[in-house]
Amino acid sequence: MDEYKLLAPVYDPLLHAVMHRLRKKVVDIASHLPHERVIDICCGTGNQLKYLKKAGFSNLTGVDLSSSMLEQASKGSHKVSCNEQDASRMSFPDNTFDLGIISFALHEKPLHVSRMIVSEAERIIHPRGSLVVVDYLFEKPIRWPARLTIHVVERFAGKHHYRHFREYLRHGGMNQLMDGSRLTGEYRFHGNATGIRVYSNDKFGQYA
Ligand SMILES: C[S@@+](CC[C@H](N)C(=O)[O-])C[C@H]1O[C@@H](n2cnc3c(N)ncnc32)[C@H](O)[C@@H]1O
Repeated sequence: MDEYKLLAPVYDPLLHAVMHRLRKKVVDIASHLPHERVIDICCGTGNQLKYLKKAGFSNLTGVDLSSSMLEQASKGSHKVSCNEQDASRMSFPDNTFDLGIISFALHEKPLHVSRMIVSEAERIIHPRGSLVVVDYLFEKPIRWPARLTIHVVERFAGKHHYRHFREYLRHGGMNQLMDGSRLTGEYRFHGNATGIRVYSNDKFGQYA
């Protein structure tokens, strides 16, 4: 069953106000990292890839399980071609990509699946490459209306989705998931309830 069937056509316009700044920030970060071959893991509508394409990036790949989300990726002037694949067992050989992105995907799955996705990301990213993770981070205090809105949105996304979101928060979110990763270096950017982390074995130049 495609859980995103109803949401897919309105996903980008609905979230534009929240995502635009983060998408641009990811483009900025990516441009300072090796990015010859880029993969967006759980790319959804391919929106982040479209921002990258618009900024001049090439050799872009996306994978997602939802055919409805991928249908959106194939639309528009910066359309991107993506693969329908399970991110927890991808078909790419080891070390295929220089840069991986996982954006707003880890919070919505059972923890063991999110861990498998991270471990797959590590496998397909070159040892000198980087992984950019974008997701909820409630490390700074946020006002209750914003917190409530996030909970309502996540609940609206479905009962299982919400249960996984709460489990993700209870278990320390992105930080906890990335604990034990072989990627050690880290650059941090904080939005309000969201954050971007860059994991790599190397130093990050400007983002060190
Ligand atoms: C909240 S959306 C985020 C989409 C996109 N990364 C973004 O930043 O807008 C989560 C996406 O993860 C995809 N997804 C969930 N489980 C997956 C899996 N095992 N493999 C690949 N994609 C998956 C869903 O289909 C959905 O498109």
